[in-house]
Amino acid sequence: MTTADTGATVLKVQNIAKSFGGVHAVRDVSFEVRAGEILGLIGPNGSGKTTLFNCILGQLEPTRGKVLVGDSDVTGLRPSQLNRLGVGRTFQLLQVFPQLTVTENLILAGQEHKGSRLSRLFGAGDAGLTADAARMVEFFRLGHLAHEKAGGLSYGQQKLLDCAMAFMAGPRLVLLDEPAGGVNLSMLANLKERLQAINRETGATFVVIEHNMEFVMSLCTRIIVLAEGAIIAQGSPETVRRDPKVIEAYLGH
Ligand SMILES: Nc1ncnc2c1ncn2[C@@H]1O[C@H](COP(=O)(O)OP(=O)(O)OP(=O)(O)O)[C@@H](O)[C@H]1O
Ligand SMILES: [Mg+2]
Repeated sequence: MTTADTGATVLKVQNIAKSFGGVHAVRDVSFEVRAGEILGLIGPNGSGKTTLFNCILGQLEPTRGKVLVGDSDVTGLRPSQLNRLGVGRTFQLLQVFPQLTVTENLILAGQEHKGSRLSRLFGAGDAGLTADAARMVEFFRLGHLAHEKAGGLSYGQQKLLDCAMAFMAGPRLVLLDEPAGGVNLSMLANLKERLQAINRETGATFVVIEHNMEFVMSLCTRIIVLAEGAIIAQGSPETVRRDPKVIEAYLGH
């Protein structure tokens, strides 16, 4: 992505709603994300953040509303189709394979993005992916762990690996669901710094769900606040932090 793209709209969420029976998890949410932005999505537990991600990324079918990536309507596309359009994600719960090494996890993630099969993991034709995995391992400062089984890593290291896996396809838009959850302070600084480096170097756009306020406020340029499935505030970290509606939503929870 070139700097000329900066500011173009990469993601448009229009009037998304999702109900589970009588539970209105997301109610009429609309927002846009611009190229190169690091947008924070915060809100109390159960406010609909993950459900909104799932509706955007094809894991759930929204009850109402539309999702556009660039100018394309992607509502209802499957996650693998979105991957091919350059959209990736991380999950709130770890998605690493504990019995595979760090490098193998990365190769597997790269293959999934390319829509190839698990059985090809150790097969021929993976030279490109192996090189990509080696670069990614270094980039995320996991080089000393490249051949360790993922299950033997600390929780923070596994979260970092999980994050690195989302970048194997070179996505232009990545939605991260609580990347910092349960990660210790030094790993947290590394994670933030690496995300900022990818953003700076590739122009990739991020939407980040996070409960760690210090992390999200220092990483993101703009923040959207959800409460009970609706946007109650948005703006700069400073504006949002001082908004009485936001304070009320967190205190009242
Ligand atoms: N598959 C489901 N079936 C029924 N209800 C669901 C389902 N998924 C989510 N919900 C409900 O929808 C609401 C929003 O949940 P969601 O997981 O999106 O919140 P969240 O903001 O991500 O919370 P957290 O910060 O705890 O991760 C909650 O009331 C939750 O119980
Ligand atoms: Mg969630």
